[in-house]
Amino acid sequence: MLKDFKPEQSLMAAAIDARRHAQSRYSGFSVGAALEAADGRVISGCNIENATYGLTLCAERVALVKALSEGITVFTRIAVVADTNEPTPPCGPCRQLLWEYCGDIEVILGNLTSTTGRHRLSALLPLPFDRRLLE
Ligand code: THU
Repeated sequence: MLKDFKPEQSLMAAAIDARRHAQSRYSGFSVGAALEAADGRVISGCNIENATYGLTLCAERVALVKALSEGITVFTRIAVVADTNEPTPPCGPCRQLLWEYCGDIEVILGNLTSTTGRHRLSALLPLPFDRRLLE
């Protein structure tokens, strides 16, 4: 398949666009994510909250499960965007799931106007528990 990697700005734009669909009425904190697959496809997600609070789905996890459920399984980068000056890094459970299914991808953090951080996932989850430890 012809690879069509997007420049970082396009990945950020996809995350910003996805953020518009956030269901964040309880926290008022809207997040968008855009996960880039190895073949160049971009799968987006937004946070989805509900009245029990605890069942909240983060934007990163929504993007990941959308991709996996479509048979997309190899990834290169994820962009995460919120309307804040401070970067919004993935929460602990999202780091675990991203590590398990994406490996050591690049995590690009930003707001509506600029990139505010760039990390390897291995730096955000330095001592992971993963399936190698189950073998
Ligand atoms: N949230 C995300 O979607 N991604 C993150 O990286 C951090 C937090 C969401 C969860 C919840 O809906 C809201 O932001 C406030 O925590």
